[in-house]
Amino acid sequence: MSNPEQQREHWSGNLGFVLAAAGSAIGLGNIWRFPYVTGEHGGGAFVLVFLVCVAVIGIPVMLCEISLGRHTQRNPVGAFHKLTPSSSTFAHLLGAGMIVAGLFLLVFRDWGWALICLGLGTAVFRYSWRMVGGMGVVAGFLILSFYSVVGGWTIGYVVEMLRVLFTGGAYGQEVFSDAASSGERFVNLVVSPVWSIVNHLVFMALCTGIVYAGVRGGIERAARVLMPLLLILLLALIVRGVSLPGAVEGIRFFLTPDFSQLGTESVLIAMGLAFFSLSLGMGAMITYGSYVERNQNLFTASLAVVGLDVLLALLAGLAIFPAVFAVGMEPTQGPGLVFVLLPTVFIGIPYGALWGLLFFVLLVVAAWTSGISLLEVVTAYFVDERGWTRPRAALTCGGIIAALGILSAVSVDADLTGWSYLGRLQRLITWCFGAAPGSFFDLVENVSSNWLLPLGGMLIALFVGWIWGTRQALEEIRHGSRNFGDVHVVSLLAGLKDDPSHNSPVHVLTLASVWGIFIRFISPLAVLLAFLHTIGWLFAG
Ligand code: PHE
Repeated sequence: MSNPEQQREHWSGNLGFVLAAAGSAIGLGNIWRFPYVTGEHGGGAFVLVFLVCVAVIGIPVMLCEISLGRHTQRNPVGAFHKLTPSSSTFAHLLGAGMIVAGLFLLVFRDWGWALICLGLGTAVFRYSWRMVGGMGVVAGFLILSFYSVVGGWTIGYVVEMLRVLFTGGAYGQEVFSDAASSGERFVNLVVSPVWSIVNHLVFMALCTGIVYAGVRGGIERAARVLMPLLLILLLALIVRGVSLPGAVEGIRFFLTPDFSQLGTESVLIAMGLAFFSLSLGMGAMITYGSYVERNQNLFTASLAVVGLDVLLALLAGLAIFPAVFAVGMEPTQGPGLVFVLLPTVFIGIPYGALWGLLFFVLLVVAAWTSGISLLEVVTAYFVDERGWTRPRAALTCGGIIAALGILSAVSVDADLTGWSYLGRLQRLITWCFGAAPGSFFDLVENVSSNWLLPLGGMLIALFVGWIWGTRQALEEIRHGSRNFGDVHVVSLLAGLKDDPSHNSPVHVLTLASVWGIFIRFISPLAVLLAFLHTIGWLFAG
């Protein structure tokens, strides 16, 4: 374990950190995943559940991760290692319980789940809370492997837009003039293994290059200029989308909650999306927090990052749904939504190819800054904990993820489900678990973002609230944000914040204590309820 604090690179200032963290949070999660998942789950009501998850779980966990990172100045595994007491009865009991459950499942010949329980149980027993950091590193590998495939699609679309530009629009008229042919083009592209693999590899090379070069020089500079541009372009798209005939229907879909549209799984997926979009639950924010200097205000930084991220997701929704309805597309069409829709919208406006080009370039950048943060988590682990050099860690991890991502890249077929080239793997998974989901891509996306991230987030909140301790965490947060804990919520709401005579006992209800209650009870419980609901143990309908 090397890297004492003095040697660790730091962000250049509060703004540098907020921009880098927002660069991690804002990405395909907001502009690709949020709209398509919202479309699949009925619109407004889903958006509302997403927002509730952000408020109830996202903000508290964000503050946990950043303060854990800054306090320990380590990667997630190192952070948990540093603060974990030498023996934890809780971890021993939990681990033993899982091992017993695994043995039980073996008897029932439920091989896949048995293996998972035995493996996880042993790890929990042996590594106790350090496991949470380890889970984050694993999640980083998994998420980046499919994220990079979609990042590759965006690169491919930059090339498409260039083609439109260079053929003077003729190619655009031929391919993107309506939703149907644009859809056909998308499918033809993504089912082509060469196209998906090459673009995926280019995207991975971009991420690896920056992580190789180091945190500040690389990551910060990219985020500083390009994020604001993305915002402006989205606003322009909204204006365009809303002014199309038939757009009202889309606005209604996006903003009017209709709870009958929410399926059993929707709550879990909205929660997973909140974690995914905010880059929470796998230690990305622990890692980024570890590059923050002591004198900076963690509280306002967390709020700014969450605020910007949610803003971008909502703007993306507003840019996309009106247009979806205006061009007569199905909002439920899945991961292709944005890629099919936007080129047709762009082709219909003056200088459309240029706009389209700019948009996809910015999307590549947004995805890139997020991909970098995913790779940074795994790289920081090997650098801090295993003593590797940064170049070696970045290249090795980048290489492994690139290889893993190829599986996702080739698993996508015509209806974006299926296992095209991976029949054997599918049979293996079916044998282990009794069934295999849509595609390998789906499997990795679903397991990592809907299960691993919320589970990680729940454990991080519990760890900070109960093991490290709210008080210690608060002490860390107070460096740089002196009065964070002292804002009296009740007096603030009542407009009596500065009233000196107003200090009755009710005012122990400060922001800090509200946060403590959330991370100790409410946020973990919310995650647990969503899990139980999904596996059908609660309100089964
Ligand atoms: N938040 C990123 C996005 O919205 C994805 C991400 C998830 C990044 C988890 C880091 C960790 O695109």
